Amino acid sequence: MRQAGRYMEEYRKLRAQFSFLELCKRPDLATEITVTPVERLGVDAAILFADILLLLEPMGVGLEYSKEDGPLIHRLVQSRTDVEQLLEFDPGQALPFVLEAVRKSCAALNGKVPLIGFSGAPFTLASYLIEGGGSRNYLRTKRLIYSNPGAWRPLMERLSSAVAKYLNAQIAAGAEAVQLFDSWVGCLSPGDYQKYVLPYTRATIAALTPGIPVIHFSTGTAGLLKLIRAAGGDIIGLDWRVNLDEGWESVGYDAGIQGNLDPAALLASPKEIRWRVEDILKRADGRPGHIFNLGHGVLPETPVENVIAMVRAVHELSAR
Ligand code: CP3
Repeated sequence: MRQAGRYMEEYRKLRAQFSFLELCKRPDLATEITVTPVERLGVDAAILFADILLLLEPMGVGLEYSKEDGPLIHRLVQSRTDVEQLLEFDPGQALPFVLEAVRKSCAALNGKVPLIGFSGAPFTLASYLIEGGGSRNYLRTKRLIYSNPGAWRPLMERLSSAVAKYLNAQIAAGAEAVQLFDSWVGCLSPGDYQKYVLPYTRATIAALTPGIPVIHFSTGTAGLLKLIRAAGGDIIGLDWRVNLDEGWESVGYDAGIQGNLDPAALLASPKEIRWRVEDILKRADGRPGHIFNLGHGVLPETPVENVIAMVRAVHELSAR
């Protein structure tokens, strides 16, 4: 969960020389950024260095990462015509650098830990296409859903199949698990999730290469967990706004879960971090199928020693 990022000195050094998109488009550098945290932190998996929005660029909408405002989309989707103008693409041709970074990262990790590939989920990608960037209340997105289902449905169909193709290409290149980030879907009511999102996420997951574990992640979705599980995924990601034991009960014990330390806890002392790790592990109660993780990405302000202390605490307290 943003284990490679600005909180790490090694990353900031590279970032001083290259823009974020340049780093994503240079497989040698993306590989270095993917592998460094595994060595530095001692984590049990690597997540590919890339971004959930990279697949929007070959759709022809214009993608930029600005210093102040984060990701920006230049040509917004506001109508059915806009949806029809989105370009179809083949991941091998449009995003060869991502697939090369997967191959190179797998080679560099050499079987020591697995590599997780990832993509944005259809709703979260649609929200960037409609809002043009991050949003507080997702009002443009909701307005489009409610007033123009004739644009929303084909948009979600296109994104659903693009995401499946993109993830399958990452799997073919060597990714050993994939994570679907529906980071902002927690803004929806259960009824709207069920009607306007679930069928499309379900179609994406159903189209993935069998045998590869799928982690289905979202935030702010304590009230949507059953529906998220119904959409699919072997592992359901939980953020910290729900107690892990209660979240797992909602999800059902036939699925695994991932989570759910508040990333802000990593700003506390190692002693405080250890206590919070212990609480989460107690709630998981030794049941198989818990992947310890943060409930969202590492914050840029985080001292790297605290992340290392967390990893050590997880290993010590969960050793059998
Ligand atoms: O976890 C990892 O180390 C893998 C790399 C990764 C990044 N983004 C790198 C990144 C992953 C898995 C993501 C996922 C991602 N990207 C999500 C889903 C997860 C989440 O946090 O909800 C979302 C919504 C995005 C879109 C995005 N990309 C945003 C909102 C931002 C700005 C964030 C910020 O704090 O400024 C980015 C940029 C981004 N993606 C950075 C990194 C390391 C920072 C870019 C920089 O160096 O300036």
